[in-house]
Amino acid sequence: MKVCVIGTGYVGLVTGVCLAHMGHDVICIDNNEQKIKLMQAGRSPIYEPGLAELMQQEMATGRLQFSTDLSFGVNHGEILFIAVGTPALPTGESDTRYVEAVAKGIGEHLPADSYKVIVNKSTVPIGSGDWVRMIVLDGVKQKQNGHTVQFDVVSNPEFLREGSAIFDTFNPDRIVLGSSNSKAIALMKQLYDPLIQGQFSAPEHPKPIPVVETDLNSAEMIKYAANAFLATKISFINEVANVCDRVGADILQVAKGIGLDSRIGNKFLQAGLGWGGSCFPKDVAALVHTAEDYGYQAQLLEAAVTVNNRQKLIVVEKLQQELKILKGKTIGLLGLTFKPDTDDMRDAPSLKLIAELNRLGARVKAYDPIVSQNGISHGLSGVLIENSPEMLADTCDALVLVTDWQEFLHLDYGQLGDRLQNRLIIDGRNFLDRDALEALGFRYVGIGH
Ligand SMILES: NC(=O)c1ccc[n+]([C@@H]2O[C@H](COP(=O)([O-])OP(=O)(O)OC[C@H]3O[C@@H](n4cnc5c(N)ncnc54)[C@H](O)[C@@H]3O)[C@@H](O)[C@H]2O)c1
Repeated sequence: MKVCVIGTGYVGLVTGVCLAHMGHDVICIDNNEQKIKLMQAGRSPIYEPGLAELMQQEMATGRLQFSTDLSFGVNHGEILFIAVGTPALPTGESDTRYVEAVAKGIGEHLPADSYKVIVNKSTVPIGSGDWVRMIVLDGVKQKQNGHTVQFDVVSNPEFLREGSAIFDTFNPDRIVLGSSNSKAIALMKQLYDPLIQGQFSAPEHPKPIPVVETDLNSAEMIKYAANAFLATKISFINEVANVCDRVGADILQVAKGIGLDSRIGNKFLQAGLGWGGSCFPKDVAALVHTAEDYGYQAQLLEAAVTVNNRQKLIVVEKLQQELKILKGKTIGLLGLTFKPDTDDMRDAPSLKLIAELNRLGARVKAYDPIVSQNGISHGLSGVLIENSPEMLADTCDALVLVTDWQEFLHLDYGQLGDRLQNRLIIDGRNFLDRDALEALGFRYVGIGH
């Protein structure tokens, strides 16, 4: 099928590349010329395992093209994906101006003689399906004197995880399609048929992939509810970890004990220094805001946010317990990105941690496998980026593990210890081998562990 994906970020680019790999004829559109040039040259603007290779492979088949020309994309695609960003405004509300610009642009270029499915892949507030329809029609009216166009809007929320985005796209737990129009749903099912049949999924992944057909509002709510649930689950285990710390229980044993209960499940029960990234914080805030708009105070979600804000600074509490005064001390962070295997720094817990350590007069250094390679990115200040774990350890009073990158499991901690002022490590993800570190003379402090 002919597809246009508008917005080539973590979601749009992965979606475009994977649809091309499934055999579709895909044009990816972005209004960032630099990004488009980079991709036309076969380079990925983001770090996502396996993405650059698959992108180059699909470009070579001719099934994947990149352009800044929205009209070209809209005319090409039978299915038009909107996959632009929906960041949070300071009020917590979702900023839908990019979606609005794209919807209007689609309306301005919609041809009269063909039927299109417009897909909201971006995470958008409840009611955005009808709103996008209205904006598209505004575009048609303004530029095309309101000639007759035929299109339907479908909500198809995305659940991929950065760091395993390609795997997740080919192995989804479900595909959610929200629309009141059966023709649009049928086209979406045809598009995803190879996925639904498990043609690209891992051998062990359950097949066929369930398709959840809903109305527009419910599909939009499914996305928010899923992220709000996962964020709350993490805040829950972090809260229990904080109590464990006080009563002398071990959160790893507790999480195992409750996670084996099939009603609870063992995923998202890893205590640590809080959730961040480009989705959970803004999606939970947006759901709280939507509830407020409709006269409801979402107290459980507000509490999940409060627990998380505190959790991001739990490491500071622990450093103060160990080192007392932090003014004049040097703290070395292992990892900066909000999770491993991504370069995404949006709302990373490290940002708040760095700001607080700076405020208390500590010097902060960091080594991150991606940030140390790519250089300082958006939102990062008050931290000296080192090129190796050894350089990081030099003169540090403590190490803090912030991101659970696999390579941190295999560092030579004995050698790092020789460079540190104190053999002190705060493991913000309960990731490292406590016994091995203690055998090397480290004081090891986990989170509830
Ligand atoms: N990142 C994730 O893990 C993830 C997962 C699920 C859902 N989502 C949702 O998907 C959406 C996209 O997220 P993302 O992380 O890919 O965003 P992103 O910021 O990485 O990418 C957005 C892209 O849209 C482009 N863009 C903005 N305005 C445009 C316009 N008018 N025309 C063409 N291109 C335009 C930008 O240049 C950018 O390349 C968001 O709503 C997000 O909540 C993200």
